[in-house]
Amino acid sequence: MRTKIVAGNWKMNKNLEETEALLAELAAKLPDTRAEVVVAPTFVNLSTAVNHLENSIIQVAAQNMHFAEDGAFTGEISADMLLNIGVETVILGHSERRSLFGEDDELLSKKVKTALVKDMKIIFCFGEELEDRKSENHFAVVESQLKNALFGLNKADWKQIVLAYEPVWAIGTGETASPEQAQEMHAFIRKTIAAAFDAKIADEVTILYGGSVKPNNAKEIFSKPDVDGGLIGGASLKCNDFMEIVKAI
Ligand code: 13P
Repeated sequence: MRTKIVAGNWKMNKNLEETEALLAELAAKLPDTRAEVVVAPTFVNLSTAVNHLENSIIQVAAQNMHFAEDGAFTGEISADMLLNIGVETVILGHSERRSLFGEDDELLSKKVKTALVKDMKIIFCFGEELEDRKSENHFAVVESQLKNALFGLNKADWKQIVLAYEPVWAIGTGETASPEQAQEMHAFIRKTIAAAFDAKIADEVTILYGGSVKPNNAKEIFSKPDVDGGLIGGASLKCNDFMEIVKAI
């Protein structure tokens, strides 16, 4: 049985007071669930989140990190800094990091390696742009994103990896991939991993869908056999919406 996960990527939203208020509400309202629930506030509020959620099953993730151990990297955050404050999960490869901050497969592969060495859990994001889908190149793009960042891993590394398929055209646009499109891609991802590694790894890896998941579409998307949960942006900023999505798993 694969692990089900609902994760909220708060992106660059919520100041300290707003973070504390949302965390308190989430901790109080979390329903009984078979899913792991994760929130990723901004860096400056991670420590607060870890402390607030000490007695909750809700986990805390970072939205990014640098690959280097330490050193002259102004403005960056290392794996050890995250671990030191109790953050053991990191989101890597988000499309906003790729498109707005120039992160490419080569850089992401370094970040993945560092996170693995540090024994962190990785939520690895990837997905095609609108032009790729229009030109029916989406499978090739996804395959190459996976290959370039993850195919150098050892089989044992996969237990630390969660995949998040986020088609760029569905992020923050209100346009969701149809449940059938999500299922089709998730099945393709498993097939690709089975070919590169083995069927067991492909079958056991958790694959999340991200892109305009809302309370009114979560259930249908999560009902697909190869969709193991969601990486939620906008709807994770409102407690009730996020909780409805958690209930949909
Ligand atoms: P939205 O849910 O706002 O489309 O964002 C998805 C996302 O980017 C999660 O990482």
